Amino acid sequence: MLSMESGFGIAWCAGEDAWISLTMIRPGELWNDGNGVPINAHGGGVLFHEGTYWWFGEHKIGGEEGNRAHVGVHVYASENLTDWRDEGIALAVDDAPGSEIPSGCILERPKVIFNARTGKFVMWFHLEPKGGGYGGARSGVAVADAVAGPYRFLHSLRPNAGVWPENVAEEWKRTLTEREEQELAALGLGGAPFPWYPREVVFRRDFEGGQMARDMTLFVDDDGCAYQVYASENNGTLHVSLLDETFTKPAGRYVRIFPGRFHEAPAVMKWGGRYWLFTSDCTGWAPNTARLSSAASMWGPWEEHGNPCLGSGAQIANSFESQPTFVLPVVGKRDAFVYMADRWRPGNAIDGRYVWLPVVFRHGLPVVEWRGAWEVEGEWDV
Ligand code: GAL
Repeated sequence: MLSMESGFGIAWCAGEDAWISLTMIRPGELWNDGNGVPINAHGGGVLFHEGTYWWFGEHKIGGEEGNRAHVGVHVYASENLTDWRDEGIALAVDDAPGSEIPSGCILERPKVIFNARTGKFVMWFHLEPKGGGYGGARSGVAVADAVAGPYRFLHSLRPNAGVWPENVAEEWKRTLTEREEQELAALGLGGAPFPWYPREVVFRRDFEGGQMARDMTLFVDDDGCAYQVYASENNGTLHVSLLDETFTKPAGRYVRIFPGRFHEAPAVMKWGGRYWLFTSDCTGWAPNTARLSSAASMWGPWEEHGNPCLGSGAQIANSFESQPTFVLPVVGKRDAFVYMADRWRPGNAIDGRYVWLPVVFRHGLPVVEWRGAWEVEGEWDV
């Protein structure tokens, strides 16, 4: 029997033309594409479309400069979730005058969904205008006619300008007084948790200009409704926001969830009639303890269940040294989901690693259990 190195693992030749893929997913190790080049798709998400999985993620370059976008969003294709073909740059940075996505901007956590009504593929991502640090907190939107692109940048926005959240008391539906503004400014809000975070203030500050949106994900429900879930209000509160029929802008309906709990890195899956939300704490690139929450409806009420990671003490505490980015349903299989996370390397961004693990179910909860190496085929008989 012959064997050959193929990307991430080994393929065995069972006969003249029959190569049986025995590739394994090895969380945290280098993962090569079909050309033998490490996959470059960080903070990513996967769209299944017409028999193929499409993995979109941030293309990073080396060094600290790699934390900013210099290439764009990279896309890879696979039929089996282990062997990935390089399909090129789906959305390229653009240095034309007036471009909102020039080289050197921050473009993170791209997610792509398909809109069956318009026939378009729609990409959303966290966008920070060049040179502004993380203060912009905007969402970028790009569209394409073909899944691999090229995607055309459409616009950037701060979601839900001029719209009050659906789940706030009437008394808070007012913009800030001058005094409240001064008190808020004195707090010097960044994006990290602190106990005296003012829970009913920041969304009111941003009512007119639109809500801050940093870490984000997209989720399309079985009824065709699409949602953006984003870390808002200086990361203190998550928003669940319905997209309009084109999926290119908010529909103007949203709720705030877990005010003051500082969740980020959201990833949503639906299972057992409930919506499950994996998130992290807010500690920048450094890994921290993940969180699992659920609700019977995307509109809530949401409840927290605690840490979904199973493994050694350190693995549980730092979520296998990684931060969630997406949960991928394995198509055609019941109860089969892949939890996707990033092991960031901010000093040499291109060397960030992917931590993909099977979601397992324990006592009615989806949790994530450490495996040094695992096979999608063995796991779910794909
Ligand atoms: C993390 C976030 C990443 C990136 C990083 C920058 O908290 O999840 O996507 O924004 O902060 O420090």
